[in-house]
Amino acid sequence: ITNLLTEDNLPSYHRELADTFGFDNAWGTWVGRWTAEENRHGIVLRDYLVVTRAVDPVALEEARMSHMTAGIAKPEKGSQFLKGVAYVTLQELATRISHRNTGALCDDPVADRMLARIAADENLHMIFYRKLCAAALDLTPDEAMRAITDVILRFQMPGLNQPNFRRNAVLLAKHGVYDLRQHLDVVLRPTLRIWRIFERTDFGPEGEIARDELHTYLLDLEVKAARFEEQRDRALARAAARV
Ligand SMILES: [Fe+2]
Ligand SMILES: [Fe+2]
Repeated sequence: ITNLLTEDNLPSYHRELADTFGFDNAWGTWVGRWTAEENRHGIVLRDYLVVTRAVDPVALEEARMSHMTAGIAKPEKGSQFLKGVAYVTLQELATRISHRNTGALCDDPVADRMLARIAADENLHMIFYRKLCAAALDLTPDEAMRAITDVILRFQMPGLNQPNFRRNAVLLAKHGVYDLRQHLDVVLRPTLRIWRIFERTDFGPEGEIARDELHTYLLDLEVKAARFEEQRDRALARAAARV
């Protein structure tokens, strides 16, 4: 339901994306094609949940209405383009992980194949944005580094405005669909490695400051991820002991 509601909020993302990238030439083609692909994700997820009677359709509709009415808006203003490409790179990758892991947990070959196919789309979206961001790093290293740091330090998934999002985010973390460890090891670190963030020698003083901030943040996140894993292991052990 969390994955579906996130896909459902597409009109908000389309508006933000069109606003950030514009509609001229290739950008218009990209935004249109991307929107069509994302729309299909919501369609197949809803079809699956409804035909398998896996959801209460009235509760789902109420959640959709509330989520779409709230919509989403860009978290920050100013130098939108660079922050935009950095954000969508990480968000598409996080979405890919979350769809893939949900499919594996469903214990149903149809759901598994369907979510693997959606995850494959998210992966292609991520690669496109990641390449844009890499080009931005080469063209304007300091500005791109600042944007990447700002985005990572404030990263939130687009489902934040969903009803029960916090409770569902805890469930997702508890069952290994998306947690802090995966955010750090599967989303942030591999992307930063491909951008060669910690090997680059083309930063000026501003880029160096932004990179140091990011480095400190990642050290802190590592401590938090380890703490989260310990707590989850203890909770699982307690639950196992009760059975
Ligand atoms: Fe999607
Ligand atoms: Fe996507």
